[in-house]
Amino acid sequence: MQYDTIITNGTVVNADKSIKADVAIKGEKIAKVAKGLAKAAKPNGTKIIDARGCYVIPGGVDVHVHLALPFCGTTSSDDYNTGTRAAARGGVTTVIDFAIPYGEESLQQAVDNWMAKAEGKACVDYTFHVAVTKWNRHKHEMEAIVKQGLPTFKQFMIYEKEGWQADDAAIFGCLEKCRELDAMLLIHAESSRVLDELIARHHNEEEMRKYGARLHAVTRPNFIEAEAIQRAVKWAEVTCGRLYIVHMSTKEGTEIIQEAHRRGNRNVLAETCAQYLVLDDSLFAREDGHLYACCPQIKKKPDQARLWKGLKDDTVCAVSTDTCTFTREQKAMWQGDWTKIPMGMPGLETLLPIVYTHGVLKKRLSINEFVEKCCAAPARVMGLGDRKGAVQAGMDADIAILHPSKKIKVDPAQMETNADWSPYQGWPLAGFSRTTLCRGRVVVNDYEFCGQNGWGKFLRRSKLGTGR
Ligand code: URP
Ligand code: ZN
Ligand code: ZN
Repeated sequence: MQYDTIITNGTVVNADKSIKADVAIKGEKIAKVAKGLAKAAKPNGTKIIDARGCYVIPGGVDVHVHLALPFCGTTSSDDYNTGTRAAARGGVTTVIDFAIPYGEESLQQAVDNWMAKAEGKACVDYTFHVAVTKWNRHKHEMEAIVKQGLPTFKQFMIYEKEGWQADDAAIFGCLEKCRELDAMLLIHAESSRVLDELIARHHNEEEMRKYGARLHAVTRPNFIEAEAIQRAVKWAEVTCGRLYIVHMSTKEGTEIIQEAHRRGNRNVLAETCAQYLVLDDSLFAREDGHLYACCPQIKKKPDQARLWKGLKDDTVCAVSTDTCTFTREQKAMWQGDWTKIPMGMPGLETLLPIVYTHGVLKKRLSINEFVEKCCAAPARVMGLGDRKGAVQAGMDADIAILHPSKKIKVDPAQMETNADWSPYQGWPLAGFSRTTLCRGRVVVNDYEFCGQNGWGKFLRRSKLGTGR
């Protein structure tokens, strides 16, 4: 067969094994993975990409991003243009955003709104989880959404002001519905009543002057997340609904998920995000500490250690970013009141570099585990396992080529994200993508973005897979 592209001389890394092999691409698909393909190729007919000394991994799959999200009185500043450019440069070739209905909107309206944000702009592939914010109305709409290839829903235990909050009855009902539809419920787990009480106790001029952004951490102790995860797991167990805890940040949460697995409940999954693995809440004491505010907030070193261990022992199935970018100017809206900080951080461009540098190079994860957590598991668990997450014949030709040791200093001025800061500013990180291909097209060459708006396509998803 005449191939369009062959990646040669690299080490092909999948979640199960690594092999020295060439990767042949025809159109948008991987046609063959075998030794000697480049040598056998006809001269001039095929583009040859030399990956000597590099890893050839599946494109990253970030299952938790918020692009152009109206939130906290502003709109997150990475949209489908800059956000997906950043993804590509970071070696991420699929993003899953959240389509959220506002006011009285239907689930379909939310999906249509998010489709319009992405259409013509996205440079890598995308799909959506759909937020169920008005349970009594939206429960009747879920089946039609699943039929469109969108089998994952989201509920928030907090964000009453945004009109997104779900109570226990809604969560219980939604899990039952997910079981019926073979769908999955993603939960933002934080205990809102106690959280609101703690915020009210500390929301006064004197403490705000004294503690500034540190009050964000003070009002979100670990039990705020742990109690909420415990409750969600209970509802999942009694309904047999499939549950996925998003952005898990605590050691206690990790223990609760592990206990559920020990009881034999494999229907309960959890992700963490890169920031919870490497940042801690001492940052809030800095002059620019408010930049790091996100929900849930970054925790402490023992939490980081337990989350890394949870990745290793498969309690935590995936690493995402919860990218919700706000510029310094947007973050400055807080004016000393931590409850007014736009919550969220940039992350898409640094997901693979953070997990590679702090996971693989620090020997917390093997290179295959890195691929499992950032590529294979997120694809499989979210119903994309038939086309994403592996370098294998028949899969989409989504590939990132990573140099094993070359480090690049994180500098927002050199990045594709619209953020003018990074939580990892100045950090030397390996694992940036030297070359990224999305469905056969080179979108990053020599660490520079060279893709095209509109190349990214909406992905209909099929049967949801399992954790490990
Ligand atoms: O701070 C965050 N995480 N912002 C985005 C919304 C959410 O809760 O995921
Ligand atoms: Zn959330
Ligand atoms: Zn989020």
